[in-house]
Amino acid sequence: MSTLAGKHIVLGLSGGVAAFKSAELCRALVKAGVTVQVVMTEAAEHFMTAVTMQALSGRPVYTSQWDPREANNMAHINLSREADAIVVAPASADFMSKLLHGGADELLSLMCLARPIDKVPLIVAPAMNREMWSNPATQRNVAQLKADGVHVLDVGQGDQACGETGDGRMLEAEEILEDLMAFFAPKRMAGQRVLVTAGPTYEAIDPVRGITNLSSGKMGFAIARAARMAGAEVTLVAGPVHLATPRGVQRIDVRSARQMLDAVLAGVDDASVFVATAAVADWRPDTQADQKIKKDGSGQTPALRFVENPDILATVAASSRARSGDLFCVGFAAESHDLLAHATAKRIRKGVPLLVGNIGPATFGQDDNALLLVDDAGARELPHGSKQDLAVQLIDDIARRLS
Ligand code: CTP
Repeated sequence: MSTLAGKHIVLGLSGGVAAFKSAELCRALVKAGVTVQVVMTEAAEHFMTAVTMQALSGRPVYTSQWDPREANNMAHINLSREADAIVVAPASADFMSKLLHGGADELLSLMCLARPIDKVPLIVAPAMNREMWSNPATQRNVAQLKADGVHVLDVGQGDQACGETGDGRMLEAEEILEDLMAFFAPKRMAGQRVLVTAGPTYEAIDPVRGITNLSSGKMGFAIARAARMAGAEVTLVAGPVHLATPRGVQRIDVRSARQMLDAVLAGVDDASVFVATAAVADWRPDTQADQKIKKDGSGQTPALRFVENPDILATVAASSRARSGDLFCVGFAAESHDLLAHATAKRIRKGVPLLVGNIGPATFGQDDNALLLVDDAGARELPHGSKQDLAVQLIDDIARRLS
């Protein structure tokens, strides 16, 4: 379930072309179970109509501090007291400067100033031209707003409405949504540095062929996302998969098991938790042809010989033990049958405190899964659910073990 469900958010729009993304954001928030109260500045109404925002939020929009609908005529007080957060998107350069100085000459800034600062977080999504964004005045304002406790989201990079290209675009609606979900998620993994492997590996035979497996990487990506939401710093070493990088996660792409091992060894000293979800190919061809292997017309097939790949998880776990390190290692087991027996044996063989079993053929490529958590005390089942929900439960479980 989304960390946003049941929240009440005041969505403020100041003036900017990016206001069209706020319509999408409003819709996404409502879909995530949020009640959204839209407040717009006069400048925002030049870019987006209050009618559109009312239709999308299902609530009348406030645009003036003189709104007679409020019995006490104090919309700035009433609206800000009800909110779990105020999110200003787009936050224009001018609006941020106003926030910084405690300006209060229209409803939105007045409401931000009047909010109970300890109870109602203020989150802003800047949106402006790249020169405006990089101007020292704006950067000073951003730094000071952060120092004042305002949560300033990143800006995007790319083509701008003015025709220029650079930093300063407002994040896309789904990126803001993701950041808001992370904002509200309990920070059970704060201070942890989590290294995750995900996806299959690809072992080349020649420049155009190789062997791999059906792992999609979805479980590992979901775990990386859940760990980041829980406040961890996350590095994701990914085999060849077609998945978007979870927001806020550092991703390193690799292809073969040996590349995956190198990337893991380069990052593991900084990690406090290692979660190996990758379906690493057990074997690779003992040689890789530089050129495409051609049929010679004889009907003979090439003789492929295999050598075993390094066991990344076992290597990392053994080296951590040898150094008496406190790296917490979690393995996965993709089995086709006898899950409990195989997972129990594999946990001991790999030398890890926690091993997560799942049925490979039933889950590869799917959006859902069921997990069996095996430790030295026994086994606990996480029943069938979406990979994202299971990832959140697994990260919760790991956080409990670390605390
Ligand atoms: N693993 C690894 N490096 C390998 C093989 C596996 O790091 N070369 C990790 C996987 O990421 C997973 C765990 O070890 O966390 C178990 O992987 P799995 O493929 O289920 O088991 P194998 O060790 O390959 O054993 P088997 O093929 O006999 O089931």
